[in-house]
Amino acid sequence: MIQIKSPKLISKNVVIRYRAPFSLVGNVEVKRSFKAGYYSYIRSGLVASLNSIGNYCSIGPGFTVGDTNHPVDWLSTAGLLYTKTRFNWYQPYKTRFIPDPAHVALKKDMDTRKAAPVIGNDVWIGGNVTVLRGVTIGDGAIVAAGSIVTKDVAPFAIVGGVPAKPIRMRFDEETVARLQQVKWWDYDILDLMGVDFSDIHRALDQISERVAAGTLRPRTDDYLTWSQAADPPPAKVPRPFSFLKRSGR
Ligand SMILES: CC(C)(COP(=O)(O)OP(=O)(O)OC[C@H]1O[C@@H](n2cnc3c(N)ncnc32)[C@H](O)[C@@H]1OP(=O)(O)O)[C@@H](O)C(=O)NCCC(=O)NCCS
Repeated sequence: MIQIKSPKLISKNVVIRYRAPFSLVGNVEVKRSFKAGYYSYIRSGLVASLNSIGNYCSIGPGFTVGDTNHPVDWLSTAGLLYTKTRFNWYQPYKTRFIPDPAHVALKKDMDTRKAAPVIGNDVWIGGNVTVLRGVTIGDGAIVAAGSIVTKDVAPFAIVGGVPAKPIRMRFDEETVARLQQVKWWDYDILDLMGVDFSDIHRALDQISERVAAGTLRPRTDDYLTWSQAADPPPAKVPRPFSFLKRSGR
């Protein structure tokens, strides 16, 4: 019900709360826990921090979301001052360097000043996009390839560039208001079969009619959880006679 191509790239303490199906299609490094909606996927990239991603989101390859800043006005920007993750493979640093607790606390304070990003429903993010901390991307928004999103994106806006600026709106104001009232993404695609998605007004009419007739109800299932602990990668079992192959016999 969750598809994770590279579970080893997900930090041990991370818990993904999701509604099925949700997919991390390719190599996606995940540093912090987040919440994900159904029929959403991330092709590849880095989830440094993310509050939540809604339903029906398509996130392109090379996505980076919610990464932290290094201190810019200290003597150095080097991360090794407050986190030992990068150079612990180097014994002198590993055994002798003790980060100053005051520096660790200051960095933590920096990190929590801006909230983890929020991505709405039916958001399409093109390839190689970076979304900075503190940003909310509204329902139905589109982020053009190669953009760096530094500010909130309005629902149903198309934004692009570095920094990302509005390109245009997907629909007129009246249609956007109707979309926000109908909230088609609250329904499972299996229950929306037969709806003419390619004709926005007809589709909204069809969904409204089904809701009014009581034949279409929103999904109400609970979020499921995934973590390394609950789903450890399979232990490596040596294949029988693999030594024969290695020795070339
Ligand atoms: C955002 C996007 C959907 C817009 O497509 P479109 O509606 O056909 O837009 P147009 O090509 O008509 O361009 C409209 C304007 O946006 C600008 N624009 C388009 N893509 C842009 C981008 N990636 N970054 C910055 N500006 C962009 C164009 O230069 C143009 O500007 P102008 O009006 O000043 O000339 C498309 O450009 C895009 O980025 N698609 C993502 C593709 C991708 O990454 N796919 C991966 C699979 S998930």
